Amino acid sequence: MQIFIDSADVKQIETWLEQGVVDGATTNPSIMFKDGVTDIEAGALRICKLLGDRPLSVEVTSNHHETMLEQGRLFATWARNIVVKIPIVNEFGESCLGVIHRLTREGIAVNSTAILSFNQAILAAKAGATYVSIFAGRVADEGNDPAVVIRNVRNWLDEWKSPSRIIVGSIRTVMDIQSAALAGAHIITIPPQFLPKMVDHRYTRETVRQFNEDATKVAEQITRAKAAAAD
Ligand code: E4P
Repeated sequence: MQIFIDSADVKQIETWLEQGVVDGATTNPSIMFKDGVTDIEAGALRICKLLGDRPLSVEVTSNHHETMLEQGRLFATWARNIVVKIPIVNEFGESCLGVIHRLTREGIAVNSTAILSFNQAILAAKAGATYVSIFAGRVADEGNDPAVVIRNVRNWLDEWKSPSRIIVGSIRTVMDIQSAALAGAHIITIPPQFLPKMVDHRYTRETVRQFNEDATKVAEQITRAKAAAAD
């Protein structure tokens, strides 16, 4: 399973890349706004440089299919590792599968985003999306169990040998990460604030403290024994 970082914060991306746990990154216009990126191209290029060959998803910002296509084609020229994020439908509920399909056929990697149901996911996969992004938190907002959706989509992709990969996004708690991993996510895109919580544990700290304390006691004993032998 891969871990992406759901962020446009260069410092955070750098930090977690150094820890060796980041396989790629995802953004959307809200994340860019929150992380202070005003120039999408410049922001995306800075992140792409950090990521090397790892993918970076950048989302189109229009409801209109022609503009989505134009933006998608443009984004794809910025760097080799750009993945174009296309919502499964626009805000009027019009299908964007045609856009996903066209860009895919042009050799552009597409992340089909804002997916909230099994049916949306399988259609995005059929249209050729490299990634289908299931928004766990938003699925749960609607009273549905994201783990069931993730598991069903994973089973379907495996059964039909689809090359599309599930990204689980919209992570709201550390428990969402565990549930998505166990439900069969290929990738989970994690907002950086959850990564320290995943690493740390009170009792691990206490365990390490105890080992350090005993190591100090042993060192003191050795020093005392050496001093006694020298007397
Ligand atoms: C994933 O690719 C999206 O950027 C993100 O996870 C959306 O989550 P939200 O529900 O917090 O907006």
